[in-house]
Amino acid sequence: MSRLRVGVLISGRGSNLQALIDACADPAFPAEIVVVLSNQADAFGLTRATEAGIKTVVVDHREFEDRPTFEAAMTEMLEQHGVQLVCLAGFMRLLTEGFVGHWRDRLINIHPSLLPAFKGLDTHARALAAGVRITGCTVHYVREEMDSGPIIIQAAVPVLPDDTEDTLAARVLAAEHRIYPEALGLVGSGKTQVVAERVAIDAGAPEDFLVNPSDRHI
Ligand code: GAR
Repeated sequence: MSRLRVGVLISGRGSNLQALIDACADPAFPAEIVVVLSNQADAFGLTRATEAGIKTVVVDHREFEDRPTFEAAMTEMLEQHGVQLVCLAGFMRLLTEGFVGHWRDRLINIHPSLLPAFKGLDTHARALAAGVRITGCTVHYVREEMDSGPIIIQAAVPVLPDDTEDTLAARVLAAEHRIYPEALGLVGSGKTQVVAERVAIDAGAPEDFLVNPSDRHI
């Protein structure tokens, strides 16, 4: 079986990267991570990748005169490794239309909210401030506009009365670690197709892909 060759872009801690590494450790999983690229030399995710025996590369955005040249360097590096799909996993640089267009429908992201709610940063603080009872996370194909694009999987996560930003973030992060590998499994096995800016999924009942962790195992 040939597995989809994945490049993961990170900027920091890399816990979602770890979830993807763990999923790819199963030889039956339809994707493999061939390179991890970070724009921060001290990102802990680089250590995780090295420990898993995965090639790492640092492309420091500060060494480039503008975003397009930084992104061209990343694309060159990814293509050198034969990457077929790029996964953003806590990659905290905005991407321009050049990069997003080049990797169109081959570039996915995880975001800690139920998009299109709470795009951008500080999602959990804003969810608490808004008083929402449910938040969650989203894996989606990337389009030019920040935190937008066809949605592959979402997980709903309850907001509890005593939540702080940290407790809510931890609950959402646990859901992220479930749905990112699940989404990569779908993409890697060729079960997703973007049709008219919606993701068609070629398997199972629709509810299989609207993951609510609290009733998933009922
Ligand atoms: C994750 O919560 C991810 O959803 C978020 O950054 C965190 C990275 O954590 N991404 C974004 O906010 C992108 N808009 P990690 O490095 O431990 O995976």
